[in-house]
Amino acid sequence: MVYQIYPRSFSDSNGDGIGDLQGILDRLDYLEWLGVDCLWLTPIYPSPMADFSYDVSNYTDIWPTFGDLELFDRLVSELQRRNMRIVLDWVPNHTSDQHPWFLDARRSKDSNYRDFYVWKDGAPDGGPPNNWVRSWVNLPAWTYDEGTEQWYLHCFLPEQPDLNWANPAVREAMNDTLRFWLDRGVDGFRMDVIHLLAKDPEFGDDPEDLKVLSHVVLNHREEIHPILREIRSTVKAYPGDPVIVGEVYLIDASLVASYHGSGDELDLAFNFEPMFRPFTAESWREIVDRVIEHFDARGAWPTWVLNNHDAPRSATRLRSLERAQAAAVMICTLRGTPFLFQGEELGLENAVLQEGEVIDPGFRDGARAPIPWEQESPHGWKKGGWMQFPPDAAAKAVEVQQKDPASTLSIYKALLELRRQEPALRRGDFRWLESLPGTLSWERCEAESILHVHLNLTGKEAVLEGSGEVLFSTGRDHLDGPNGALRPHEAMILRPNEAS
Ligand code: GLC
Ligand code: CA
Repeated sequence: MVYQIYPRSFSDSNGDGIGDLQGILDRLDYLEWLGVDCLWLTPIYPSPMADFSYDVSNYTDIWPTFGDLELFDRLVSELQRRNMRIVLDWVPNHTSDQHPWFLDARRSKDSNYRDFYVWKDGAPDGGPPNNWVRSWVNLPAWTYDEGTEQWYLHCFLPEQPDLNWANPAVREAMNDTLRFWLDRGVDGFRMDVIHLLAKDPEFGDDPEDLKVLSHVVLNHREEIHPILREIRSTVKAYPGDPVIVGEVYLIDASLVASYHGSGDELDLAFNFEPMFRPFTAESWREIVDRVIEHFDARGAWPTWVLNNHDAPRSATRLRSLERAQAAAVMICTLRGTPFLFQGEELGLENAVLQEGEVIDPGFRDGARAPIPWEQESPHGWKKGGWMQFPPDAAAKAVEVQQKDPASTLSIYKALLELRRQEPALRRGDFRWLESLPGTLSWERCEAESILHVHLNLTGKEAVLEGSGEVLFSTGRDHLDGPNGALRPHEAMILRPNEAS
């Protein structure tokens, strides 16, 4: 299980309202108690924060507000001591416009770094070189540079110029940044919008009727594969089999799975389909079948994600805590690696912002609110957080939920504990069991160990088609034994009786 930390909003040690590395160190007991195997930190590098740390101005240092390299080294060794792993976020598609490479590149067409970025002359009509649209807003992915009279490409903000991965010098410089952190002992990387690195060498227009989707979700090119193989050989030259997780933002399992190559590219790729589909039995059956068809078929290990810093929180999106809990049972008991986002285990909802309060250029603030640790305001943040807390922060604070055996936190803790204890849940084979409409049932099986998961995806009570020892239930008072029924949105894990 991987637990995603958004450091700015996780835990603040010095009272400046912004979470920091010391804050993470202070909460390691909590993460260990919860049963976290591996942390993924969103970017911690120096950044002007135009895109909240996804605009990196130095790949080999720490943003001073978060801490410094010495503190980072302490975090790594403390995690090693606890047998937990750490994965960093690597942002290879673009730098900040304040990165020394870009500052130099825009100085003159003769700069040694000019070719580190994508520069083009304008179209004959004086407009941008092609019709590519950048993320979040329907605006060109190109900005004109007055000084050198050319346009540069940016699939995101103008403050995030795209690197030119067709240039071997870029590949070398960026692979070096991986080595820098591997030398410091990290266990791998989550690679930001990795599918964007390969660009159409012709820089042709995107299809007119699709261009409103932004180039980010259209870019999918064969040229990516040698780039991924090179990255893999850099990373895998280190001991301990460091992991490579790719954010392939294509929302289509058949495309995403291809970024595994033939086992020589990504280790794991985010499959975001579940975040965009309705919470119904039919839809989840299809999602799982597509994973079996595309990932299992090529021997690729799947990932399961319900939440991250870019999407509305599942408790908000699914419009009920019970649904969000049932969905969590799915991602922790299907075959693959679940990724949890900080605060998901508390059942947090999106913070509600008024119009003038939105500061993220991608309008994603709601999911990024500070974590409430204590009941009393300011909830463990000495002087409050950098933005408002999510709804019901006091009732959902960690210290409150830890004491309540029926809380969302207790449900996640029990679920993760069972996952640790039962190899069948981690590695076992998967097969669907017959189930009534509106419900889903499946089996996980490894050697002698067989477990059944039963899920009611409807708002009405449903017949439970199974019996055995109840190992886990989101309806906590069902732990005594199944009574033949599943409550609305209940998820249950059984060790079936021999005969069933
Ligand atoms: C990824 C990140 C997102 C960021 C974007 C540009 O999608 O998850 O937060 O804004 O890439 O780097
Ligand atoms: Ca701080």
